[in-house]
Amino acid sequence: MVIDIKMKKLMFCIGTRPEAIKLAPLIWAAQGQNFNVCIVTSGQHKEMLDPFLQFFKLKVNHSLDVLKPNQSLSDLTASILTKMQMIMQIEKPDYVFVQGDTTTTFTSALAAFYEKIPVAHIEAGLRTHDRYSPFPEEINRKLVTQIAEYFFTPTEESKKNLENEGIKKNVWFTGNTGIDALRLATEILMDKGALHPPSLEAHARKMILVTCHRRENHGAPLLNICDAIIRIVHQHKDVDVVFPVHLNPNVQSVVKLKLGNHPQIRLEKPLNYPDFVSLMYQSTLLLTDSGGVQEEAPYFKKPIFVMRESTERPEGVSAGVAALVGSDTDAIVNAVNLALTDQGYYQSFQKAVSPYGDGYASQKILSALFS
Ligand code: UD1
Ligand code: UDP
Repeated sequence: MVIDIKMKKLMFCIGTRPEAIKLAPLIWAAQGQNFNVCIVTSGQHKEMLDPFLQFFKLKVNHSLDVLKPNQSLSDLTASILTKMQMIMQIEKPDYVFVQGDTTTTFTSALAAFYEKIPVAHIEAGLRTHDRYSPFPEEINRKLVTQIAEYFFTPTEESKKNLENEGIKKNVWFTGNTGIDALRLATEILMDKGALHPPSLEAHARKMILVTCHRRENHGAPLLNICDAIIRIVHQHKDVDVVFPVHLNPNVQSVVKLKLGNHPQIRLEKPLNYPDFVSLMYQSTLLLTDSGGVQEEAPYFKKPIFVMRESTERPEGVSAGVAALVGSDTDAIVNAVNLALTDQGYYQSFQKAVSPYGDGYASQKILSALFS
């Protein structure tokens, strides 16, 4: 008897906003090929996730309700692990797909392992080689590497990282599914006429788009970053800063206090994906500690300055599409000053080629796994 592979049940575990964005195109591709798809959200993010599920029209089969304000990593880990395992016992999927390196990613992979269900890891092989940065994501992704059976790497470099750790079987370099999502969103927004490039007029105002949420930046580094933003707008009266502030209370409290009442600084709630994509397109440059935003800005040829001490996306820095500036106030101000005043430096980011894929990773992942 020939078993129809399309009868297989694929479970997608989603916890945070980047997981929704980066798994959505893969889920669409699987649904397009009539796989039996089951979507579980852990509830790690709630307000920050729901708009994405709506935008991508993802119909969730199970929502676990684990979000508590400022809860500890161990509470979150224990809660998702127990509930995910229960759902897996009910649904009995043939494959579990996890993406990236969040607490949901790691705990869902572990729950699947306890149920002896093979795990496919999307965006595998990223490393900073610093166990505390990003914290706890570097260790989360290394643990998922031990658990998973199928590995889909976004870049050649991430594939090499796995090879260096002895992972050579069932590893495919596909590009990043986040670029698939961005390509699709851009097409939709272009059709609606909703993407507006920055004005080229000599006296037009410039816009810096900022995001910041990483745990390593909480406390003093975030204060330094806020100081840098204040200095930048003081030095450049033609620059506005737009900063959608992550719902993490450690970020909210500091950013609102430091940047809350400045005429050139607009603090926003976390934005829905299409609104954020439109702002990226409109921006002059970006300041971020986000992983996903590091990959997306080069798609629009926008210089991006990464406010972290290390990045698991060094290929972007080597390619020249991103620069690592850390969280030191002077370093951030100097880099932004240079980009705003030196056209050659600004254009060097635009001339560089993004290493994050062509926007067709999802199809490659399904073909690799099922053909
Ligand atoms: C988590 C991921 C990080 C990812 C980021 C994406 C872990 C360990 N970290 O960051 O890798 O880059 O998500 O944004 O998994 N909150 C709400 N509503 C929401 C979302 C968050 O109130 O919709 C508040 C809660 O108080 C929550 C806090 O923000 O406790 C932090 O959320 P959490 O998922 O722990 O975020 P991070 O660990 O900062
Ligand atoms: N993003 C968004 N709205 C915002 C900020 C970010 O839609 O207000 C998107 C962004 O385009 C990217 C993703 O969220 O796809 C990145 O999420 P985040 O920075 O929270 O997580 P990370 O990528 O660092 O894990």
